[in-house]
Amino acid sequence: MNAPDKMSKNIHTNLAEKATDSMTASGTADKTGDSADPSILMDDVRLTLTSAAGEVNILRGLDLRVAAGEAVGVVGASGGGKSTMIMVIAGLERATSGIVKTAGIDLASLSEDDLALFRRDRIGIVFQDFHLIPTMTALENVAVPLEFAGKPDAFATAEVQLEAVGLGRRLTHYPGQLSGGEQQRVALARAFAVEPAILLADEPTGNLDGATGKAVMDLLFDLHDRSGTTLVLISHNPTLAARCDRIVTLTDGRIVGEEIPVHARDRGPEQGAASA
Ligand SMILES: Nc1ncnc2c1ncn2[C@@H]1O[C@H](COP(=O)(O)OP(=O)(O)OP(=O)(O)O)[C@@H](O)[C@H]1O
Ligand SMILES: [Mg+2]
Repeated sequence: MNAPDKMSKNIHTNLAEKATDSMTASGTADKTGDSADPSILMDDVRLTLTSAAGEVNILRGLDLRVAAGEAVGVVGASGGGKSTMIMVIAGLERATSGIVKTAGIDLASLSEDDLALFRRDRIGIVFQDFHLIPTMTALENVAVPLEFAGKPDAFATAEVQLEAVGLGRRLTHYPGQLSGGEQQRVALARAFAVEPAILLADEPTGNLDGATGKAVMDLLFDLHDRSGTTLVLISHNPTLAARCDRIVTLTDGRIVGEEIPVHARDRGPEQGAASA
């Protein structure tokens, strides 16, 4: 067995090579989800958890492809499995069966340690319930992933990101001293700051008033446009979902429908055509 630091370096090299291959193969021109190397691929994914009440089949044969640089909105009734799907895409929950490839990497092949590095380097997540670190200030919460990623000026970048979401005057507040909407904006700033290849956002405006929600979603779509970030956006807000290239409906653990929003339709039939 390699020494831990050497192992970590090898993992990094390996992940970087795989991801570069994937990005090169997918390119920026193909945003259909049909390319040979989609940014996210889920093939007949099932997830069964055992609870006190017995086994619960949460994902039941879920198929999804998201092309590099594509923005996919996910809608569907409460309890359908949307948040769970995001956890599986990020490797925070392992599928019981089926194939999950994120950024070209088969997540089943990664150990828990590899998965943590993979998330750090590739994925930004805005959790439905924020997942801020309660003992850290807003500024520290946003700076931590930047520091983990070895970015210089982590605190300066974190401050700029918090100002961008309107929290420049709340830098030293702890999560418990912030409103729900303010905590949500810290979570967004944290995810935006690392400029991830893949951004998974779970009801990111659920706690925000209309104007604030629109302002932070403008930031999210700016990032998507500017950096070619692949975006999976869960939202019950039809206006927000309609800003994506494609909207899929997730019901009872499966993708059961797909729609191309009006603004995306004039891109031609090859665009936005496919979740399996
Ligand atoms: N750890 C768990 N053990 C058992 N069942 C679970 C567990 N986590 C989630 N579930 C169940 O899985 C189903 C899907 O949950 P999930 O949170 O993915 O739904 P959702 O589509 O995100 O809903 P919402 O729109 O309300 O956020 C729900 O019925 C939930 O009760
Ligand atoms: Mg949810």
